[in-house]
Amino acid sequence: MLIRSLGSGFVHPLASEITPEKVWQERRHWMSQAASGAIGVTGVMAGLGGPAWAAEAPADKLTPFKDATGYNNFYEFGTDKADPARNAHTLVTRPWSVMVDGLVKKPLQFSLDELQKIAPQEERVYRLRCVEGWSMVLPWRGFSLAELIRRVEPLGSAKYVEFQSLADPKTMPFVGSRLLDWPYVEGLRLDEALNPLTLLAFGMYGQPLTNQNGAPVRLVVPWKYGFKSAKSLVRIRFTEKQPATAWNKAAPEEYGFYSNVNPEVDHPRWSQATERRLGEDTLFAKKRKTLMFNGYADQVASLYLGMDLRRNF
Ligand code: MTE
Repeated sequence: MLIRSLGSGFVHPLASEITPEKVWQERRHWMSQAASGAIGVTGVMAGLGGPAWAAEAPADKLTPFKDATGYNNFYEFGTDKADPARNAHTLVTRPWSVMVDGLVKKPLQFSLDELQKIAPQEERVYRLRCVEGWSMVLPWRGFSLAELIRRVEPLGSAKYVEFQSLADPKTMPFVGSRLLDWPYVEGLRLDEALNPLTLLAFGMYGQPLTNQNGAPVRLVVPWKYGFKSAKSLVRIRFTEKQPATAWNKAAPEEYGFYSNVNPEVDHPRWSQATERRLGEDTLFAKKRKTLMFNGYADQVASLYLGMDLRRNF
């Protein structure tokens, strides 16, 4: 069996043995054959993490590892896309703990090891689109945030979840710059946080997250612009009021709370109608059409029924 839930003993090859994307592209080729019926799928789908895989478009090729780890937004380490790869080696990811508190019955502080073990980890391939107009497709590893939420038992008054990234000026050279009001904070409505697509990720491409991609634990919310997917999380807090998010505070007319991928509502500076895939952006490469909810409408559109998505951008 090629794909298994990590909880049941996933083995990945050493990086020195084989390039990660080659392994993953081969697996995905095999998986798409399996999904189309060319190969029996018995015993395989069990490890695939359900809806995430079903939502994947077969034409999506994985973004090469070097692009996914060399072209990043992680403003704690600089504003240039190459800065995180250059500077994030100073981030200390062990020991690490995540506080989960606020309006919950059981506030808990988890060490990274405890957190990693609360549910079986799965591999999930998600598209992620940045509001700046680029996108990528990556095999993440983690479990649904809902698993963690269940364990702390939110109170009836909890309506939102706030995510806080580490803000350590000693190891993060841009914390203290006036770009954002640090720490980096993001937020979701509780029902969005509970949606099975919302992933608490510890790894990518079969290995632990690189520092520039948000080690040791981050959020991945694939139907929203990339900035909602906060990196290097240290606190998850349940609130009654909508959290004040870092980008919304910095430029409220540009970054709304919802930030759902929506090709019909442009950002003041960037069109959201099309996107370029990292790794495919040669001079003559055609841009891709951006899909509503980044292609995950089947799983998430019902969260926004009756809402004006132009106003609630
Ligand atoms: N999280 C923190 N703490 N700081 C950041 O600057 N940038 C966001 C998001 N999470 C950011 C962050 C933005 S704008 C994007 S597009 C994604 O991370 C990029 O994730 P990637 O570098 O893994 O592609």
